Amino acid sequence: MPGHQDGASFSRGKHTHTVPMSLHATNRRRLCESLQSNSQVGSEAVVLLQGGDDVPRHCTDVSYLFRQESYFQWCFGVREPEFFGAIDVDSCKSILFMPRLPQDYVIWLGRIPTTDDVKKQYDVDEVHYVDEISDVLKAAKANVLLTLVGVNSDSGLTSREAKFEGIDSFKVNNTILHPEMTELRVFKTPAEIEVLRYANKVSSEAHKVLYKSARPGMHEYQMESIFEHYTSKEGGCRYTAYTAICACGPNGAVLHYGHAAAPNDDLMLDGQIMVIDMGAEYHCYTSDITISFPVNGKFTPDQRIIYEAVLKSNLAVQKAAKPGVLWPDMHRLAEKTILEELVKHGLIQGNVDDMMAVRLGAVFMPHGLGHFMGLDVHDCGGYPKGVERSTDPGLKSLRTGRVLQKDMVITIEPGCYFINSLIEPAMKDPVKSKFFVPEVMERFKKFGGVRIEDDVLITEDGCENMTQVPRTVADIEAIMAEGRA
Ligand code: GLY
Ligand code: MN
Ligand code: MN
Repeated sequence: MPGHQDGASFSRGKHTHTVPMSLHATNRRRLCESLQSNSQVGSEAVVLLQGGDDVPRHCTDVSYLFRQESYFQWCFGVREPEFFGAIDVDSCKSILFMPRLPQDYVIWLGRIPTTDDVKKQYDVDEVHYVDEISDVLKAAKANVLLTLVGVNSDSGLTSREAKFEGIDSFKVNNTILHPEMTELRVFKTPAEIEVLRYANKVSSEAHKVLYKSARPGMHEYQMESIFEHYTSKEGGCRYTAYTAICACGPNGAVLHYGHAAAPNDDLMLDGQIMVIDMGAEYHCYTSDITISFPVNGKFTPDQRIIYEAVLKSNLAVQKAAKPGVLWPDMHRLAEKTILEELVKHGLIQGNVDDMMAVRLGAVFMPHGLGHFMGLDVHDCGGYPKGVERSTDPGLKSLRTGRVLQKDMVITIEPGCYFINSLIEPAMKDPVKSKFFVPEVMERFKKFGGVRIEDDVLITEDGCENMTQVPRTVADIEAIMAEGRA
């Protein structure tokens, strides 16, 4: 690797994790090695990526807080907007192109870094200005530019292809890079795993604070605020990885509660169960944790039934998840465990295999069991060429249909929800209605839901749970009582 300098790193203070910039050098090296062995790539190929832009709020001069685009982050770890980056595939030489900011911006932005500053900060081989891209790539005799075009299998949106003035005079290939980078991002390196463990540790600690802080009479958004305060103050995490879901009572049955029209603003009531799904990110590496607990600190018998059914499901998957296992089979295992528990406690009746055959599980858990997690909370690579998405209820919502392999990071997040728009038609359905016990189901009409979400690393022969929060009924009641002492 040319030009490596020791010491370049990202950190938010001594109490936080130090991310060595060598993490990104390793990613670039993996990318070059992979491209070098790709027969479609000729000699003198150069990867060219465009980083994220500053995004203004509508037509104003106020911007959303900038967060780097994830493919660019994976390669370079650059925290500011308007950069480009190039990697020479044969030599792995790395070049950043920074925006040329007018000197009087010093008044607004503080000292404007020089190219030398940026070279040291990100530990790359060269730094130039964005307006020099064409000349620099010509001087480097780039034969073909590999640019990034591909569809995100979760959002359906297409990545932004790098474009600069003068690109028309280069040969460009925009089909090779996306599948290559996407596949590499699925498998986390030791340095990436360290950052993911850190984001998870900080978020786990914040969830423990939530268990202790919850009280009837609070508003849901106050839980959001306590989490963000903790992860920012104690963990140096300036961003959360996705919109907070802090849902008490029936709101827990709204899977993406917390959106703009339902902004976590309900009152938390005595006797309700609460679902909190929040994760901090650090250096753009994410976490995604859900806890469920009674607002007043004590599970009712019905809350306990549903909570323990979901916990059993989560633990069954944790025990079974290992290399070679098909993820949709883990989804089926999670569903089956929940259905068995619901039968045991009299909400439904009949043969569980018959229920599985008619996809009854998707009535109680309409979302997928879990998803890859990394630089994006719903990380890329879930459906590479050759992996088909199921069309069956529940299974079609899975964000990956892959076989698990070592070094994948994935969430395990079974849930059981009482979503009236699913349950009511199912109870009238000629095939499904026979399984329900209406008088028992009636008790759960306003229950909401329970989700238990952990983030695991697939290891050689099993999985490591990076999420460390109290999970049993006894442990949750104990930590909640501690918070009230
Ligand atoms: N927080 C989003 C999810 O669990 O997938
Ligand atoms: Mn998740
Ligand atoms: Mn989540």
